[in-house]
Formats: sequence, C-alpha cells, structure tokens
Amino acid sequence: MPEVDQFKQEKNYHTDIPVDTHGFYLKGASALDWGMKNRLSRIFRPDTGKTVMFAIDHGYFQGPTTGLERVDLDIVPLMQYSDAIMLTRGMLRTTVPPTLTKAVVMRSSGGPSILKELSDEQIAVDIEDAIRMNVACITLQVFIGGEFETRSIHNMTKLVDWGYRYGIPVMAVTAVGKDMVRDAKYFRLACRMCAELGAQVVKTYYVPEDFDTVVASCPVPIVMAGGKKIPEFDALTMSWKAIQEGASGVDMGRNIFQSQAPVAMMKAVNRIVHEGATPEEAYDYFNSIKVEG
Ligand code: 5RP
Repeated sequence: MPEVDQFKQEKNYHTDIPVDTHGFYLKGASALDWGMKNRLSRIFRPDTGKTVMFAIDHGYFQGPTTGLERVDLDIVPLMQYSDAIMLTRGMLRTTVPPTLTKAVVMRSSGGPSILKELSDEQIAVDIEDAIRMNVACITLQVFIGGEFETRSIHNMTKLVDWGYRYGIPVMAVTAVGKDMVRDAKYFRLACRMCAELGAQVVKTYYVPEDFDTVVASCPVPIVMAGGKKIPEFDALTMSWKAIQEGASGVDMGRNIFQSQAPVAMMKAVNRIVHEGATPEEAYDYFNSIKVEG
C-alpha cells in the first residue's frame, strides 16, 4: 500500500485538455470489446457523444413516488423522448412495451427500503436475466462512505465481472447518503473509485464548485444525476453547466416526470445536451411548447 501523500499540493487536473479517446468517441472505452461499444453507442448518441437518460427506478426502494404512481399511463409515453431509460426489471417486464427500442439501463441492486439503511444493498438481478431482456447497461448504487461501503463495491465488481463476460457495461451511481458531504472532493473520490474498480460509466451529482475536476479525474464518461425537483429553469441551468464542464449526459427522473410539462421538459433537456442550447434558449423553448398536464 503506498504511503498517503499528505503534502503534495499541486492539482494537475488539466481541465482544459480533453482526454484522447484513441479511436472510439467515448472516454475510456477504446479497449472495450465490440459488444460493449455497441451497447454504449445505444446509450450515448454517436453523433453527439451524449445521452439523455430517463430515471424511473425510484420505486425499488421508496414505492410509488409522486409522478410514478401509474408508469403505464404517465411515464411510458415520455420514454420516446429519451435516449435511454433507467429502471428495474420488474417495471420493464410488466409495463414497458417490448416494441420500445430505447436503450435499457437496468437497476440491478436492491434490498433495503427507505425505512432501513439504504447502503445495505445486494445484487438483485442475475446477469442471464439482463441478457434475456436485451439491456444495454446494468447499474447499481455505490455507497462510498456508507455503512456498507465494501459490500456495495463488491456488488459493483461482481456486476463488472459479469458484464465483461457478456459485453454489458456497468454504470455505477455514486449514492449520497444523508450524512455524506456533497462536494467535489467527495465526488472525485467516489467517481474515481468506481471507474478504477471497473465501471464503464459513472453517474454522479452536479456540484457548483469544481465539477470539472470530478469529470477530469474520472477516466470514464460521467452522467449527471438529477436529484430532487427544482424549478425548470434551474434544472436546465444545472444540466447546461454539467455539460459545459464535461459531463457526457444527464440522467433525470423527478425533474422530468414531476415537471408541470414533462414532454416539454424532456425536449428542452435534449436541446441542451445534444444541440448546445443555452439555459435561456432551452427555457424559452420549454415555455413555447409546454402543455401543462
Ligand atoms: C439514485 C438514482 C435514481 O435513479 C435516482 O433516484 C434518479 O432520479 P432523480 O433524478 O429523480 O433523482 O440514480 O439511485
């Protein structure tokens, strides 16, 4: 084990120099096999290198969250406006029509409900079932600093090993427990650990200070997590900042399906992620097409 380097102060993130992708458009993916690259290309649009992912996996630990009471009626119609959907196998099999050709990012961990210690998760899907459902990616939460940190890391490395066996990438989600500090220092640690231990994609939260260093020091694509519902303009601004600072996309749930106009919000987020719109342009667009529902 190397000695802890307490005295070295230089910060060499070189946030202005993009990483060489060596022939494949996604960071850190050049050495992956064809199947993995193909699946990643279903998530991250090859023409922009980015993704608009739609997270609706909340029910696996907190039941029918506001907006997700009737996924068949209120959520399935929104999926066509995303590049990828993030959800559990139960919701996929029961409720999503198999004619949907969007990339599926399958929540593969579970265990405790919101009434218990959330970091006490285990793998909750067999890789064969993920293959059977033709998923593009498997995903789980990683609780760096949580009570069951080591277990959640081992859950992730198990999924990574399965994923390499069958060509399915893993997206690690850096969890934010109630006692965890949300700053760039923490997310640099969490994202880097997930990537070093094998995740091909990392989903993490935006922080107003030094988010670019979180992206720069993580050798795989970062997808920005949405979080609690905030006003539409603020969510668009946060998305824009994350993309400007190097994120390869966004994965939003509540800021889409709890919006006063979810279709308009999804389309406005697409404008930012794939078309380079500013928050003001995207918000004007949102207002021009919104139909409150
Ligand atoms: C945390 C997640 C979930 O997908 C999350 O709940 C995403 O949704 P929201 O944008 O509403 O926070 O990644 O495990």
